[in-house]
Amino acid sequence: MAAPAVPEFLYGTAWKEDRTAALTEQALRAGFRGIDTANQRRHYVEAGVGEALAAASRAGSVTRADVFLQTKFTYRGGQDHRLPYDPAAPVATQVAQSMASSLEHLGTDHVDSYVLHGPASGQGWSAADVEAWAAMIRERDLGRTRWLGVSNVSLRHLLQMEGTGAERPAFVQNRCFARLGWDRAVRAFCAERDIVYQGFSLLTANPEVVQHPRVARLAAHQNATPAQIVFAFARAVGMLPLTGTSDPLHMTQDLASRDLSLSPDEVRELEALAG
Ligand SMILES: NC(=O)c1ccc[n+]([C@@H]2O[C@H](COP(=O)([O-])OP(=O)(O)OC[C@H]3O[C@@H](n4cnc5c(N)ncnc54)[C@H](OP(=O)(O)O)[C@@H]3O)[C@@H](O)[C@H]2O)c1
Repeated sequence: MAAPAVPEFLYGTAWKEDRTAALTEQALRAGFRGIDTANQRRHYVEAGVGEALAAASRAGSVTRADVFLQTKFTYRGGQDHRLPYDPAAPVATQVAQSMASSLEHLGTDHVDSYVLHGPASGQGWSAADVEAWAAMIRERDLGRTRWLGVSNVSLRHLLQMEGTGAERPAFVQNRCFARLGWDRAVRAFCAERDIVYQGFSLLTANPEVVQHPRVARLAAHQNATPAQIVFAFARAVGMLPLTGTSDPLHMTQDLASRDLSLSPDEVRELEALAG
């Protein structure tokens, strides 16, 4: 099985509807080598990602082996009527059906990361999650994904998951609010266990940071934009950031933020800015 490394940036494909294929292709052309999607038609067109990969491969620019491809299993509660599984089937069967449908949409025999889109309950790691996670591990053991992840989790979810003796995820993907210390507790849990923390909504969840005068000064000093400073900060504290930009210039700028470096003092200052 081809083994692309985990890239330094993920291109997110949510909310792009019939522009999904064109924008994903554009992101690949811009240089993104990590793509995040989900088998959740309500917010994603997973088949559009498959179209983009096929087109890039035909053009000879990017092959499947060059791309870190991540998709998700989404419970019934997070879906609309366009389900990738039989809602009457047990959760374990739904996971297997959703994965089979993802591989068909994406035109591949495996993904690189398979993520539980969110736990069944906000309160804690439930019996449904235990069943879904075991089914995801089976998919991994069958070679349909290289790694597994969980998304939209609290520290409580993660501790309870660990308490069940479950295999730990390779990835945690969370919305990252600066006012919650940039999800400090979950990031610390991940760092102690070599789990890669993927942060999304870094710009949209944190307008007070993006517009902060200190960030503007840092950006001017580095000849960069505030958005680039936020992504550089995310990377400096060990996150794998996501962006879902639809703008070709922003695609280039977001990737170029990999070349920015912040001093330890600047990182500490940004970390303390809002939380
Ligand atoms: N696991 C989950 O439940 C979950 C939930 C939400 C999202 N996600 C994933 O995360 C991905 C990213 O979502 P997101 O919530 O972070 O929001 P997003 O859809 O990426 O939105 C980012 C916003 O920031 C702007 N932006 C991006 N780069 C910029 C730049 N360099 N300068 C100025 N503005 C810039 C974009 O505007 P322009 O388009 O104009 O650039 C857009 O308005 C999604 O596509 C999805 O794959 C996962």
